Amino acid sequence: MTGRRPAARAEAAAQGVPGGGGSVALAERVVRWQRRHGRHGLPWQGTRDPYRVWLSEVMLQQTQVSTVLDYYPRFLARFPTVQALAAAPLDDVLALWSGLGYYSRARYLHQCAQQVVGLHGGAFPGSSQTLATLPGIGRSTAAAVAAFCFGERAAILDGNVKRVLTRVLGFSGDLALAAEEKRLWAAAEGMLPARAVDVYTQGLMDLGATVCLARNPGCVRCPLAADCVARRAGTPERYPVKTRKLKRGRREHALLWLQHRGRWWLVQRPPRGVWAGLWTLPEFASKDALAQAAAGWAGQGRWLPVIEHALTHFDWTLHPLAWEWPARSKALPDLPDLPAGRWAAPEDALALGLPAPVRRLLEAAAGAAAG
Ligand code: ADE
Repeated sequence: MTGRRPAARAEAAAQGVPGGGGSVALAERVVRWQRRHGRHGLPWQGTRDPYRVWLSEVMLQQTQVSTVLDYYPRFLARFPTVQALAAAPLDDVLALWSGLGYYSRARYLHQCAQQVVGLHGGAFPGSSQTLATLPGIGRSTAAAVAAFCFGERAAILDGNVKRVLTRVLGFSGDLALAAEEKRLWAAAEGMLPARAVDVYTQGLMDLGATVCLARNPGCVRCPLAADCVARRAGTPERYPVKTRKLKRGRREHALLWLQHRGRWWLVQRPPRGVWAGLWTLPEFASKDALAQAAAGWAGQGRWLPVIEHALTHFDWTLHPLAWEWPARSKALPDLPDLPAGRWAAPEDALALGLPAPVRRLLEAAAGAAAG
């Protein structure tokens, strides 16, 4: 199937033309279902304040609701307005983002706040089109903010919603191709309801997150089941179709956890690349390279359990070496192999923006020392 016919069908259904499942338009069924069975009472739902909605949407990209529930109130308490966020040092933003991953989101968030203040007088633009010109706001996020805050009839199409729509429509075009993705956007726009677009938008998100799951979709609970092409064919798991597979790589490095008189040596990552701008332990090309660098040092070290960390494009194996420099020496001599950085007491270190696995490592030590 090419997906062309189902898209036309969706448009017909959206206009109230009877489909296989009855005369109520697909969108209307999503709206009714959301009201009865969707998620309500999430902290970002009771507001039309674009700052709060935008923040939640950015946090929810690639991150589960349960995690965001933890970070969102803390972030808002520290940055209650877009002005407060724009005025904050990036390091403070990264520190509060620490553990949420995908740190480019936090950098864009900060840039976006600065543009809202600097270019838009502190008020978020009132249309999805203008929202999408801001850093870190893609077409789907712009549409979600505009639908939730301004009731704009704009279509969202994040990963979950792509799954819902491709299944319902039997859209088997390859979403690795820009032309196919464009056709799915058009179909999504064709399905928008005339009213209650905010409830509809939330309904699609809720269906994707709680019913139309990637594996084991809960079709018996789905308001669109009667019209779902993939369900009728018994092949929901075949959707969405996307051929280009991400090739995952592997990397292996060593981390030096240098300790002296209760303080730790931390370095800041460069502004581009993995963990950009975060504070971390100095990285060495390999276990051997670190062992060689440390061969002439005073004090002693021990290798800690290996950290296996999965990033978007590669799996990373990290070998941490804890090295205790003797307390009797007041200061470290110049160590040629030691990357530039700073000493931090444990509580200061843990207040910095740290990558999640490094935070776990350091927190375990801080906890052990305290307990
Ligand atoms: N995922 C993305 N946006 C969301 C929202 N507004 N509510 C719940 N999950 C979401």
